[in-house]
Amino acid sequence: MGKRFYIETVGCQMNELDSELVIAALLEAGYEYVPRRQDADIILFNTCSVRQHAEDKIYSALGRLKHLKEQKPGKIIGVLGCMAQKDQGLILKRAPHVDLVVGPGQVARLPELLQKLGESGSPIVEVSLDRRGVSQQRVRASFLPLDRKERPSVRVTPYQAYVRVMYGCDKFCTYCVVPRVRGPEQSRSPSEILDEVRQLADQGCLEITLLGQTVNSYHWTEGGKTWRLSDVLAEVHEVEGIRRIKFVTNYPCDMTPDLLQAVRDLPKVCPYLHVPAQSGSNRILQRMKRGYTVEEYREMLAAIRETIPGAAITSDFIVGFCGETEEDFAATVKLVEDTRFKNSFIFKYSPRPGTKAAELWPDDVPEEVKRDRNNELLAIQNRIAEEENRRFVGQVVEVLVEGPSKASGKQRQSDGSLQLTGRTACDRIVVFPGSSDLVGQFVSVKIEAVSAVTLFGHVLAAEAAVS
Ligand code: SAH
Ligand code: SF4
Ligand code: F3S
Repeated sequence: MGKRFYIETVGCQMNELDSELVIAALLEAGYEYVPRRQDADIILFNTCSVRQHAEDKIYSALGRLKHLKEQKPGKIIGVLGCMAQKDQGLILKRAPHVDLVVGPGQVARLPELLQKLGESGSPIVEVSLDRRGVSQQRVRASFLPLDRKERPSVRVTPYQAYVRVMYGCDKFCTYCVVPRVRGPEQSRSPSEILDEVRQLADQGCLEITLLGQTVNSYHWTEGGKTWRLSDVLAEVHEVEGIRRIKFVTNYPCDMTPDLLQAVRDLPKVCPYLHVPAQSGSNRILQRMKRGYTVEEYREMLAAIRETIPGAAITSDFIVGFCGETEEDFAATVKLVEDTRFKNSFIFKYSPRPGTKAAELWPDDVPEEVKRDRNNELLAIQNRIAEEENRRFVGQVVEVLVEGPSKASGKQRQSDGSLQLTGRTACDRIVVFPGSSDLVGQFVSVKIEAVSAVTLFGHVLAAEAAVS
């Protein structure tokens, strides 16, 4: 078996982090990473199951590889991540040319599984236990931690890193497959998190994003003391070298005063809060089992705005959930209009096998209605985002420079500079001309123009003081 591997990643930040750690682990085990699929002996897909569309894309990509496998039987095709956990052996039925199916709770064993595959040659399916019908302790133990074997070069930028604070999810929103595929909620110990952050800081990492499906539900008890996310933030804040700390995703019910105060009082913690609402209708929120009413959600937002004036608040919404009427949708529109989120991700409901919603209620909102509601809500959100961004025209913002902007590719301007991109502390994307030696630095950018998603400007000074 050849040693060159390629990995394609879809899904959320959790998957991006997993892929980074998988790459680092395989490099450690002597494999060689190649950035193009056609150069690889081992082709890996790190998959997502959150919506049908994400799965369809993977199955068609697998379908397209059938021919390649027939021509070159020595190539290894592996399906990792959430769809591996959800579909398990079904993947081999639908795509018999796949060699490896490895759930997110088993990817830590990938080097060992590849070796085993090389010896036996027969397909391997390794997944964690199903959450139903087995003791919770056994289920938990079957989701193995994925340790960091740090290699800054495998991160998207060496200056930024994700650090997981918890695995899994226990909220069981009725539409969501994540608790099933990612397993039970398990927080990591503060000392493990801090060791990781220190190691990253030593390597020159400037910005840390703490990750959890419900990151603010974090809790750890040891020696009579309980740590909450606010305590972890306070400790990470003390790590020298780290200049920005972000955390995603927040669960509205766990947005507690201590957390808001931590964001207010710790200057390195960014005033950026992703707190998905999902719907503005109480009837739908109840069906979704989100655990709050729209009035409670609004109160929570009011508390954020009172404690952290100017905080950037972002959300996710699902349109066309089972039984969603025009009236329910109008309530969502009203919430978006009143709240003026910095931005929202809007999704059309996609029934997921094994979830309560899929079992209990028909997917009864027609596709065209879902599409129209999606477009309508997106247009409203974009208008608001652009209006909010206009406040920045003429202002100076501090940006951590990430690299050349995607739109400009690596093309130089006529004066030899590149179009660079970076983010503000409140997670706004900023695009400006500059030379590549600014990458990885903090710069002050004066904003001249905006769109709904981007601020455009020019650099005033590099390495501004931390604000
Ligand atoms: N843990 C995070 C995000 C989970 S998945 C949270 O609780 O907010 C990211 C987003 O996908 C969710 O916020 C939700 O808006 C959307 N989503 C989840 N399941 C979905 C489904 N079945 N159909 C459509 N969108 C879905
Ligand atoms: Fe899914 Fe709800 Fe858990 Fe988020 S909190 S991952 S939406 S079950
Ligand atoms: Fe998708 Fe799994 Fe993330 S289902 S959204 S990759 S946790």
